[in-house]
Amino acid sequence: VPPPPTLDVPEVPTDHDILLRAARGEVTERTPLWMMRQAGRYMKAFRAYSENYPFRVRSETPSIAVELSLQCVKAYGLDGCIMFSDILTPLSAIGIEWDVIKGKGPVVYTDVTTEEGVDSLTALGDVDEKLPFLGETLRALRGHTEGKCTLLGFVGSPWTLSAYAAEGGGTKDARKIKHMMYHNPDLARKLFDKLAVMAGEYAVHQIDSGAQVIQVFESWAHHLSPADFEKFAKPAAKKTIEIIKKAKPDTPVIYFANGGSAYLDLQRDMGCDMVCVDHQICMAKARSDLGADVPVSGNVDPSVLFGTEEQIRQAVRDCVDGAGGPGNRHVMNLGHGVRQGTPEESVGWAVDEVKRIRK
Ligand code: CP3
Repeated sequence: VPPPPTLDVPEVPTDHDILLRAARGEVTERTPLWMMRQAGRYMKAFRAYSENYPFRVRSETPSIAVELSLQCVKAYGLDGCIMFSDILTPLSAIGIEWDVIKGKGPVVYTDVTTEEGVDSLTALGDVDEKLPFLGETLRALRGHTEGKCTLLGFVGSPWTLSAYAAEGGGTKDARKIKHMMYHNPDLARKLFDKLAVMAGEYAVHQIDSGAQVIQVFESWAHHLSPADFEKFAKPAAKKTIEIIKKAKPDTPVIYFANGGSAYLDLQRDMGCDMVCVDHQICMAKARSDLGADVPVSGNVDPSVLFGTEEQIRQAVRDCVDGAGGPGNRHVMNLGHGVRQGTPEESVGWAVDEVKRIRK
């Protein structure tokens, strides 16, 4: 008896593009997922690199950046691969010097709080010339992920990037950028505007190089009142999103305001395809604040990954339920990045649970 034909076994899994479809706002057969900061120090395989190479070497050497982007995807079968890079990466192309210092975090050396500082910033220009590793990394990654999962690019939002630059690094109170906003709003807006254009053009370049979805990180939204979000951060982020959508109408854009879930009503009209939600709000309430027509991403508490297997699985089920059931125009994610020290097997349980919940 001849062996049964194997032709109808699909070589390309049918869910290889499920994240892309959901990000476009389509109903899907299950809820797809990736995790912010999925490439990181919680993985032993990652630490083998981070203990030996500084951050900028890792993120600006294509062979290493590709390996670090793929480690977690291969280990867990995530539906999305996000390039290993940083929101600060493009700053050097417009004249802002920065680094990530081990044990301290990001540091920005260029002063952008003065008229001269803002005026000295250049246009992004030719990314292939100024940041050649970016295109090389994304093109190689697309080769690896094609037919397997969705490739994500990302940019920092103009307000968050401006705040990082103004503060010179991490901050408790974002005092310098606030001072600028209150005392010299025109100069602050000029800075936001320059970074809005840079972020938009940088994202377009990522799409040209292979990125299929772009996430815009408003990582410091927790520093903003709803009024200041509306007045300063929102128009700037909308400008970035507009630049991306105008050049690449078919590429979904996800907007994530970390700490911004108290003003989701203000995020209905960002011009993006999907809004990612932090974990300070239940997914069901997030959906109702945003409006049922807005596709959502998020929002399992990253700290639940320090819990038991059952607690992790339950948190994932609650999030899917809160979004209205599996595949309901929802990309599962955490409410912020995977925390350092997260047990590796916890990530596996979360991925397994999302993939098990089917209609
Ligand atoms: O998500 C991923 O797995 C892709 C990689 C990624 C990194 N940074 C790698 C990284 C992404 C998407 C980012 C974006 C980023 N960078 C954001 C937005 C996401 C968020 O957390 O809100 C922000 C705010 C930054 C700024 C930044 N860069 C921080 C806060 C840090 C950590 C500092 C520290 O020492 O803990 C960095 C450096 C950085 N970028 C690390 C990683 C894995 C850690 C440092 C290292 O690996 O040496």
